[in-house]
Amino acid sequence: MIINETYTLSNGIKIPKIGLGTWQVKEGDEVYNSVLAALRNGYRHIDTAEGYGNEEGVGRAVRDSGIPREEIFVTSKLESHIKTYEGAKEAFLKTLKALQFDYLDLFLIHAPWPWSNMGQNCDEGNVLAYKAMEEFYNQGFIKAIGVSNFEPKHLDNLIANTDIIPHVNQIGYFIGLDQSVTINYCNERNIFIEAYSPLGIGYLLSNEDIKKVADKYNKSTAQICIRYLLQKNTAPLPKSVNENRIIQNKEVDFEISKEDMDFLDTIKGDPRRWD
Ligand code: A2P
Repeated sequence: MIINETYTLSNGIKIPKIGLGTWQVKEGDEVYNSVLAALRNGYRHIDTAEGYGNEEGVGRAVRDSGIPREEIFVTSKLESHIKTYEGAKEAFLKTLKALQFDYLDLFLIHAPWPWSNMGQNCDEGNVLAYKAMEEFYNQGFIKAIGVSNFEPKHLDNLIANTDIIPHVNQIGYFIGLDQSVTINYCNERNIFIEAYSPLGIGYLLSNEDIKKVADKYNKSTAQICIRYLLQKNTAPLPKSVNENRIIQNKEVDFEISKEDMDFLDTIKGDPRRWD
């Protein structure tokens, strides 16, 4: 079953193909129950971030699940405004403490710039923060390191000025959103792509064209969206706080034909709304 399958990162670390997303999931019972439901149903990959404010609940659910820590792949991310060496060190230690873990599977720079100032040039700060992450990686406190929301120009800077080519770039990726430039760049350098917002934060679910494909396979629109990203060799990170949907999102052991993949590739546009 696909929920038990893994990809292998460039450093040999295995990463489960489907992860549970937790963006906008509230700290406390909501995140705790969502993560526990996912783990109960076979998920072994949980994606959180300092900026989500829910690391404590994620860590508590992982511990309470009774599943050995080493069987669960947990990602967190350095807050987007932290662009110094000392700041990154401090923040990573805070993450470990919040999760109550003695190591983390994957730590990412959340964005190339602060969310409050998107587009700002933080080349120098990204290098400084990443160097702190490299140190923790070399000491064994992090199994893999990388970035999120990085475009080729941001990656060029990092690769030119640091030692370890990022193992992962986590980007927003879903049917309709053209990420081919970044994906091709990453494929050439063996940087693994994780896909956040695989359902377009839910807005893709009302897409009639995807629904037509879904009906053909007797699957839900969500399942087509997730399966599409798997067939693109990326790791989708669907978010849900509803156990039935968490279960539905892992039941993607079917194959979308080449013809239907080509059709899904013709869908263009980003339906996300932020209001
Ligand atoms: P909920 O958490 O109430 O299940 P994305 O992963 O692209 O960010 O999308 C997440 C959104 O899609 C959330 O609003 C989530 O709501 C909803 N969602 C997740 N899985 C499904 C599903 N299988 N069917 C319908 N809605 C879903």
